[in-house]
Parts: sequence; structure tokens; C-alpha cells
Amino acid sequence: MPRDLVHGHLIPGEISPTRFVPDLIPRPEYVGKPAPQPYTGGDIRTADEISKIREAGKIAAAAIQAVGRQIKPGVTTDFLDKIGHEFVISHGAYPSTLGYRGYPKSLCSSVNEVICHGIPDNTVLAEGDIINIDITAFKDGFHGDTNHTFIVGETSEEISQLVSRTHEAMMRGIRAAMPGRQVNIIGRSIEAYAKRFNYGVVRDFTGHGIGQAFHSGLIIPHYDSAPHYADEIKVGMVFTVEPMLTLGTHEWDMWPDGWTVTTKDKSLTAQFEHTIAVTENGPEILTLFEGGLA
Ligand code: MF3
Ligand code: CO
Ligand code: CO
Repeated sequence: MPRDLVHGHLIPGEISPTRFVPDLIPRPEYVGKPAPQPYTGGDIRTADEISKIREAGKIAAAAIQAVGRQIKPGVTTDFLDKIGHEFVISHGAYPSTLGYRGYPKSLCSSVNEVICHGIPDNTVLAEGDIINIDITAFKDGFHGDTNHTFIVGETSEEISQLVSRTHEAMMRGIRAAMPGRQVNIIGRSIEAYAKRFNYGVVRDFTGHGIGQAFHSGLIIPHYDSAPHYADEIKVGMVFTVEPMLTLGTHEWDMWPDGWTVTTKDKSLTAQFEHTIAVTENGPEILTLFEGGLA
């Protein structure tokens, strides 16, 4: 539980009490308020700002790995939230989703037909499920945002291909982010690849500029949106690329909780996300963790 007993689809579960963050860890300005202050800065970051986003991004990436090691049949998504929460705070960072527009948990856990923003609860993972873990860390005044889809035990070829091809779609979107192009080249690259396999390409949830603000207002489409989303990609820009692909439709429904987004046809869906900085030579991924934290 909880699953719909007829089809095995997910249904809302019970959300555990709010987890504690030590007073010494600085919070983003929006915590305890209904919404963030409107962001008025631009999307070009200095080298020093980029290194702070990289530090936050490393913590978020390492937290996802720590959560991933605990993913197996029988564990709840609330238990995974506890692992991610404790990892982030033990590295002196704040889990950016906790208290963001009232979101109650320290990560998003999106299982099977959940496209994004699933809230950790008493859902028990089963063999063959897929689950996306999305963690954002806030450290030294900057956010780093990343997500990864894991397979629970073993699953079918169709589903494991969806997962690996969604990762490849993200990487193609990232590699397209060259200075001088328009941001819609990112979505065009993702969609062109996804369409080879007839996957649904989610349009209404996008990548975003990030830095001192969790979401800066810059939008990065994951589909071919031209002539819209024509912002020029510039050296120093920092934003996320986070495509969501489905085995069916790109249309979605939202649960009454105001967060959980599912495919309208309940088809399975996968997502991957990195935060990137644009350099003269192309994109640099800021949310990597190769065994070293400061
Ligand atoms: N990390 C998500 C993103 O990629 C945002 C989650 S907001 C939340 O943009 F409130 F749902 F957690
Ligand atoms: Co994001
Ligand atoms: Co994210």
C-alpha cells in the first residue's frame, strides 16, 4: 500500500511529520512563506557563483547516490526521504524542496506513472517499479538541482530502455547547449531523439535557470518549441536540463495534493536532470559527484 488494488496504480499515501533541520543551517528566503520573492537578477553567473552552485550540486548528486543505495523492494518512499534529508543536512546544506511553496519533504520521489513532484509517503516499492529521486541542495546561498531514475530490482526490457534512453535524451539536450544558440535547440535535440522510439515528451514541466533562486524564471523547453523560447544561450548561464519521457501520452493529471503529476494514461515515465553552466567551450555539468566532497 498504497496502490489501487484493481490496476496497481499509485494512490496518495500518508505523509510523515516534518523533518528537523538544525538551526545552524541557513535556509533559503522562501522557507516559512507561501512563495519565493520574485527573482529580478539575470541568468549569467560569475566564476565564484558557479563554484558555489557546483558545491551545492555535488552534495545533491552525492545525496541521490546515497538514496539510490537504499532502493530495493519493500522500502517506503518516506524512508528514502529520511536518507536524503539526513545526507544533505549532514553536509551543512539545506534540502531546497522542504518548505518550497509549501512542499513538505526533502526530495521528490516519483514512481512509475508519476511524471514529477511525487511526495514521499508510505508507498512501498515493489520489484520492477521505477522511481525518480530529485534532490536540490542549498549551500552558501546557491542551489544545485539534479535527479536520477532508478529501477527497483529488475524490470522489463521496454522499461529499462525507457530509463536509459531518457538519460541519453538529457545528455543530448546538454550537449546542444552551446553559446550563441537559442535555448529551444535543447528541446529540439531531446524531442528528435525521443521521437525515434515514439515516446511521449512532456512539455509543461521544463528546465529552469538556477542560482540564488531555485527557479530564476528562465525556461528551458524539452520539446521543439521554436519559434518560442528563443533566449540566446550565453557564456556564464546556469540552468537545468531535465526531460521527462513517457511510454504513452505527454498529457498529465495532478493529484488533489497540488504536487503529484501523473501521466493522463498512467503510462510509465522516466526523468533525469543536471544543472549545467555554459562555458566558451560548451556545457559543464555542475551536479556530478565522483567520490569527493569538500
Ligand atoms: N527539483 C524540482 C525541479 O527540478 C523542483 C521540485 S519543487 C518541489 O525543478 F517543490 F516539488 F519540490
Ligand atoms: Co530542476
Ligand atoms: Co530537480
